[in-house]
Amino acid sequence: MNQRGVTIWFTGLSGAGKTTITQALAKTLQEKECKLEVLDGDIVRQNLTKGLGFSKEDRDENIRRIGFVSHLLTRNGVIVLVSAISPYRAIREEVRQKVGDFLEVYVNAPLATCEERDVKGLYKRARAGEILGFTGIDDPYEPPLNPEVECRTDQEELSESVTKVLQKLEELGYLP
Ligand code: PPS
Ligand code: MG
Repeated sequence: MNQRGVTIWFTGLSGAGKTTITQALAKTLQEKECKLEVLDGDIVRQNLTKGLGFSKEDRDENIRRIGFVSHLLTRNGVIVLVSAISPYRAIREEVRQKVGDFLEVYVNAPLATCEERDVKGLYKRARAGEILGFTGIDDPYEPPLNPEVECRTDQEELSESVTKVLQKLEELGYLP
């Protein structure tokens, strides 16, 4: 199959739904027999970027390394699904420029919603002062200004979010 590579970069707060959408989209693309790879912050931080923390410098380094791998895969015809908070606009732009074939998906849910979901109990710990520098609590998140897709996960179903991304891929000619 002659597939064009592309990096689909999901950015958003912890608990906004990045991993959930990525997994669902990966399943759909696999059914279409697309060649794909998933790079999820939580997993990447256990190997490729092991040892990095959550300071601005470390987050940027994390994103830079994920961006580098995304670039290699993308130029080899892979659809790369990246799921990382990636809170800083400048480094997301840097990766966009490097990769070229790049779509930014803003996974947007209000902080209050993410905090209410608190799937991993991290917000509770951040509020209790047990985790310092938690995105949205005492660490910044810079939302995308012009994302190719925005998923309002507090207002739409998972299937809608997945469809939006698929439509954009189709529109831009990335689906075989
Ligand atoms: S970043 O900012 O892009 O480098 O972060 P990322 O690699 O996506 O890792 C985010 C996951 O790490 C957990 N975690 C934290 N998130 C934000 N701030 C702090 N201080 C923090 N400490 C740990 C959390 O599980 C994030 O996963 P998601 O999937 O976003 O909830
Ligand atoms: Mg996640």
